[in-house]
Amino acid sequence: MNHIKSYISEHKNRFLNELIELLKIPSISADSAYKNDVLKTADAIKISLEKAGCNTVEICKTEGYPIVYGEKTIDKNLPTVLVYGHYDVQPPDPINLWNSPPFEPVIKKTDKHPDGAIFARGACDDKGQMYMHVKAMEFMTSTNQLPCNVKFMIEGEEEVGSANLATFVKNNQEKLKNDVILISDTGMIANDVPSITTGLRGLSYVEVEVTGPNRDLHSGLYGGAVANPINILTKMIASLHDENNHITIPGFYDQVENLSTEERAEMAKAPFSLENYKKALDIDAVYGEAGYTTNERNSIRPTLDVNGIWGGYTGEGAKTVIASKAYAKISMRLVPHQDWVEITELFKTHFENIAPKGVKIKVTPHHGGQGYVTPITGIGYQAASKAYQDTFGKTPIPQRSGGSIPIVALFEQELKSKTILMGFGLDSDAIHSPNEHFGVWNYLKGIETIPYFYKYFTELSK
Ligand code: BES
Ligand code: MN
Ligand code: MN
Repeated sequence: MNHIKSYISEHKNRFLNELIELLKIPSISADSAYKNDVLKTADAIKISLEKAGCNTVEICKTEGYPIVYGEKTIDKNLPTVLVYGHYDVQPPDPINLWNSPPFEPVIKKTDKHPDGAIFARGACDDKGQMYMHVKAMEFMTSTNQLPCNVKFMIEGEEEVGSANLATFVKNNQEKLKNDVILISDTGMIANDVPSITTGLRGLSYVEVEVTGPNRDLHSGLYGGAVANPINILTKMIASLHDENNHITIPGFYDQVENLSTEERAEMAKAPFSLENYKKALDIDAVYGEAGYTTNERNSIRPTLDVNGIWGGYTGEGAKTVIASKAYAKISMRLVPHQDWVEITELFKTHFENIAPKGVKIKVTPHHGGQGYVTPITGIGYQAASKAYQDTFGKTPIPQRSGGSIPIVALFEQELKSKTILMGFGLDSDAIHSPNEHFGVWNYLKGIETIPYFYKYFTELSK
């Protein structure tokens, strides 16, 4: 790639300012109060794709938020890269924990980002990472170095489960035909330890409701004589893990793939400091499934976590009451071969089975999706690896992530192509948290690395 470094340093300020403008729009897909902002973001992406050199760009309507689709075909005989990303963001709450307003981006230096990082909701997940692809495209088209065909598919509902994208993909297989899918919506180990994500976990998200008596009761008059839904719910939840922190749902582990000693030894080579990990989170010990390391617990092992729990009186002071109902939201992260629909069913049956007499149980499944593993032997991974070698000066480490992008498994099923996950964020970038940020260095490194992927993928396709 000729002149990529000089192109980036020449246009660096504009690249940052354009991203900052995008980050100012609060495209929160989960909250309907922000509907116009989500739609406005789609329009802004359309314009940026046109400016970056796409021939056709359309806003594809769905039953929810639109998908921005753009393409540039230079030669039907050359390979096609399909870029996927999302322009929606998570809600910024709790807002009072932000050091600067979530939709007023500022650049500040941090320990991990001595060149500065952009602080804003969506900076890393995923506006910043998605926009690297738009700027890489601009570089390739404006310097006549685009080596193959490109398609962009940027959605606005990733953070709420991508239900309408699934329909769009199923109905547009010909339009979306490609040789490889490229996504930057994950992370890497450290700026001096580049890694490529080779796996994502699946997800099953459920909500449970425990109902006891038909109304709230005086905890003195009735306490001890009827089932208290909050007591029962917490007891039921506690029983979902045994003393070794294994999940107790019958059949839960049946399909879990057990990695060989060699594969686990390979994984353990990735640099990791338990001391720094604990220090960064201000915890005096890690916690998890017996027999597995921290890195295994959050990547190759399935988990079950309560994400929210409520019921009864939580206002100021004390109120002596037994609530009629108690609730919890529970996520299960799944590993390849665990089917999310089956796991959801196993959970429901088990949760209903363990409930004592005296309460009623309701389990409501939310969204879910399958896990994904990408082979490191394919030309997609090879092209990505060579690209990192050129721009980081090091061979990237393949690493399975604990996060989920459920649509990736559907891409493989419907479009029959593999996904390469070139993520440039760091775990410490606080995605979904207050003070989310994305390193300026990471942003520019992404823009620099992406064109090499196109180059090597095209070469290796011959
Ligand atoms: N980009 C994340 C997923 C991610 C982050 C994967 C870092 C690997 C490393 C994505 O936007 C996300 O938040 N996914 C959700 C699931 C979705 C169905 C809401 C998740 O993982 O909780
Ligand atoms: Mn994301
Ligand atoms: Mn996210």
